[in-house]
Amino acid sequence: MRRSVWRSPASLGLLAGVLAIVIAHACELDGAASAARGDAAKGERLFATLPCVSCHDVTKPWPGGDICPNLGNIATEAARIIRLREYRGKARTAADYIRESILDPNAYIVPGASYRTPDGKSVMPKDFGATLTGAQIDDLVAYLLTRR
Ligand code: HEC
Repeated sequence: MRRSVWRSPASLGLLAGVLAIVIAHACELDGAASAARGDAAKGERLFATLPCVSCHDVTKPWPGGDICPNLGNIATEAARIIRLREYRGKARTAADYIRESILDPNAYIVPGASYRTPDGKSVMPKDFGATLTGAQIDDLVAYLLTRR
C-alpha cells in the first residue's frame, strides 16, 4: 500500500510550520504597509494647521495636558493602551489605535477629568472622519507614530 506523503506526521508538522511563517509574515507586512501609507512630514504640517494643535501638546509626554492628553509619546502610549483590559476598541496595532482615536474618539476615552463631557463622551471633535480625506488621516497617523 502506498502511503501518501501528506499523511505522515513529519510532513504535517512541516506544513504547519510553513503556514505559521506565511501567516506571521503576512501580518507583519500588513502592519508595515498601513504605517507606511502616510507621509509623516505632511502629517506634521497638517497637525500644526488643524485644531489638533490647539488642544494637544506634541512636545511633552502623556499624561500632562489639563485640557487634552499630551501626544509627545503617543506611539508608545498607543501600544500600551491596546493591551489594557479596559480597552474595548478594535485596534490591534499602535497605528490603528491612533487612527481610531481620530475617527472615533469615543472608542476609548483616555482617563482624565476634563477629557469627558458630563454625559461621558469624549471632548475631542467627532467629525474628523468627515472633514479630512483618507490620505490626510494616513499622514497624521504616520506623523504621530514618530512621537515615541
Ligand atoms: C477640542 C480639543 C481637541 C481637538 C481639537 C483634538 N483633540 Fe484629540 N483628544 C482630545 C481629548 C480631550 C482627548 C482624550 C479623550 C479621548 O480619548 O477621546 C483626545 C485624544 C486624542 C488621541 C488619543 C490620545 C491617547 O493618549 O490615547 C489622539 C491620538 C488624538 N486625540 C489626536 C488628535 C488629532 C490628530 C487631532 C486633530 C485632527 C485632534 N486630536 C484634535 C481633544 C482634542
